[in-house]
Amino acid sequence: MSLKWNEIISPVIQHLPPSGIRRFFDLATEVSGIISLGVGEPDFVTPRLIRDSACYSLEKGYTMYTANAGLLELREEIASHLQEQYQVSYEPREEVLITVGTSEALDLALRAILCPGDEVLIPEPCYVSYSSCTIMAGGVPVPIRTTPDQHFQLTPEQVEAAITPRTKAIIMNYPNNPTGAIMRKAELEHIAALVRKHGLVVLSDEVYDKLTYEGTHTCFASLPDMKDHTILLNGFSKGYAMTGWRLGYVCGNREIIAAMTKIHQYTMLCAPITAQKAAIDALRYGKDEIATMVESYNQRRRLVVKGLSDIGLPCFEPKGAFYAFPSISHTGFTSEQFAERVLREAKVAVVPGNALGASGEGYIRISYASSTENLVEALDRIGTFLKAHV
Ligand SMILES: Cc1ncc(COP(=O)(O)O)c(C=O)c1O
Repeated sequence: MSLKWNEIISPVIQHLPPSGIRRFFDLATEVSGIISLGVGEPDFVTPRLIRDSACYSLEKGYTMYTANAGLLELREEIASHLQEQYQVSYEPREEVLITVGTSEALDLALRAILCPGDEVLIPEPCYVSYSSCTIMAGGVPVPIRTTPDQHFQLTPEQVEAAITPRTKAIIMNYPNNPTGAIMRKAELEHIAALVRKHGLVVLSDEVYDKLTYEGTHTCFASLPDMKDHTILLNGFSKGYAMTGWRLGYVCGNREIIAAMTKIHQYTMLCAPITAQKAAIDALRYGKDEIATMVESYNQRRRLVVKGLSDIGLPCFEPKGAFYAFPSISHTGFTSEQFAERVLREAKVAVVPGNALGASGEGYIRISYASSTENLVEALDRIGTFLKAHV
């Protein structure tokens, strides 16, 4: 007799919605001739010098586990990078942990801090994992809706209004997936004042920090007093075009890093050594390659923003990451209807905004980490679709 898995699988997991992005990605593979602007990953292959470094480490026989916290050499390199870039100082032995992507860092942080019922403020629209990881860690996600009028930035008034005695943390993600919003130092300082006043923890997901096109990125931990309040999450996937290497890191107060290391050592043991070895050289020698990729995304950003406006889709101007988040509410379609019909009729895969939280309804996400040729053709196809239906 077969098992009744529906009675065995935990209700928490049963009730978790599957990622709406993956659903569209799967749908896209069923239709031929698709241009996919769906998945959020660089269209660059990892720069040669980083790949060479990985090959060399394998040749030298580096194929074993590392320390749970990661190679000390890499932690030192990360600490000096953060010092140089953002003037925030972390002690490499106790305040830096190497993880399997930013994803693991996020999961560890939530699991290490949340007790059942603790609330986490999550500005929306947002990256798909925040709410689900909060739930899996026993917490309660509290979405805060951001809109183009507020440049998709979190305001102090919204934070103040959402705080309850159960509020433990805020997840901040600037540059933002999916809106491309950034927050400047002065704006972040208003949030920091509330964080200080209410004793909150900030999970600052800065995985797109390198992809900032206007001004410079402000690391939340670099604001006065904020190093102690911040769990800084970052990784190599986006800026270094290393999504498949699965390498990230987390920095913070030594007690929280020790707590997260406990979970990490029982679940992951360590991040892959080849990726760690390559990341050391990425940090040491990868600046020029990053600058070249950023410039290329920036050109495509301009092209897409203009192209969307030309075909009649109003779009907030993204200032970071590699996404555009145009409004489709005037078309009369819901986000899902729009994405599904554009996929089937125009053969362009985009992500429906509601896959990025309820606040994303009325929008679609377009990743412009795709060739200029693809982008021009995709915009043309969406334009033709709009002419036929709107
Ligand atoms: C905001 C954000 N955080 C984290 C991640 C996951 O990054 P990683 O590949 O480092 O796990 C992504 C990936 O899309 C993302 O957009």
